[in-house]
Amino acid sequence: MIHLDNISRLFRSDEVETTALTDIDLTVEAGEFVAVMGPSGCGKSTLLNILGTIDRPSAGRYLFESEDIAKAPEAELAKLRRDRLGFVFQSFNLIDELTIGENVALGLAYRSLGGAEKRERVAAAMDRVGIAHRKNHHPHQLSGGQQQRAAIARAIVGDPKLILADEPTGNLDTENGTQVMNILTELNTEGATIVMVTHSPAHADIAKRTVHMLDGRILTSARRAA
Ligand SMILES: Nc1ncnc2c1ncn2[C@@H]1O[C@H](COP(=O)(O)OP(=O)(O)O)[C@@H](O)[C@H]1O
Ligand SMILES: [Mg+2]
Repeated sequence: MIHLDNISRLFRSDEVETTALTDIDLTVEAGEFVAVMGPSGCGKSTLLNILGTIDRPSAGRYLFESEDIAKAPEAELAKLRRDRLGFVFQSFNLIDELTIGENVALGLAYRSLGGAEKRERVAAAMDRVGIAHRKNHHPHQLSGGQQQRAAIARAIVGDPKLILADEPTGNLDTENGTQVMNILTELNTEGATIVMVTHSPAHADIAKRTVHMLDGRILTSARRAA
């Protein structure tokens, strides 16, 4: 599904140059569940942002379903994000001025679907993660676990092929973290490809493969024993 070939990412400002990623080669097959681990600052979020086309590599090739998109026009990338990708972040990133239902509906923004179908999909996604009864609440009225489940509903309402999750359980207690992992596992079982950054060895264990990073490089990539 995705293939990174010799990807690097340099951040330049007036005084400093930071190499966030160096010589990254990574292939993720459709249906995989990959965990990315490594110390803070090693480039995990940069890698995920590049996979999500939120950021572009400084060099290298990024093949998404065999098409090289490293230099694709922004409009094409926006369409790819809208139609095929779902994002989940550590800090939920819900909009507090909107209700939970409206936040989830954002996952369908710019989709040419009828109003009835949009409402149906939003209801199904909320139901799926167990927050349907919170539809008219605002994010600050929900617990962290509920907020993250709302964020997952927003990510999956468009039925993405690839879900990118950056420390999705990082701000949650054990029980809520387990709930989020159960939802991700279910989505993977149903066919979604998932790449998830985590600091939790237990959560990485739930994925089928763990990629270990250090100083902008991939050290090892180990598949879980069957
Ligand atoms: N927008 C940016 N501008 C400058 N440096 C950045 C930027 N984003 C990340 N970095 C740097 O790149 C390195 C990797 O960061 P990041 O990918 O966020 O690491 P991680 O997610 O593993 O903690 C760090 O040294 C960080 O300071
Ligand atoms: Mg990070």
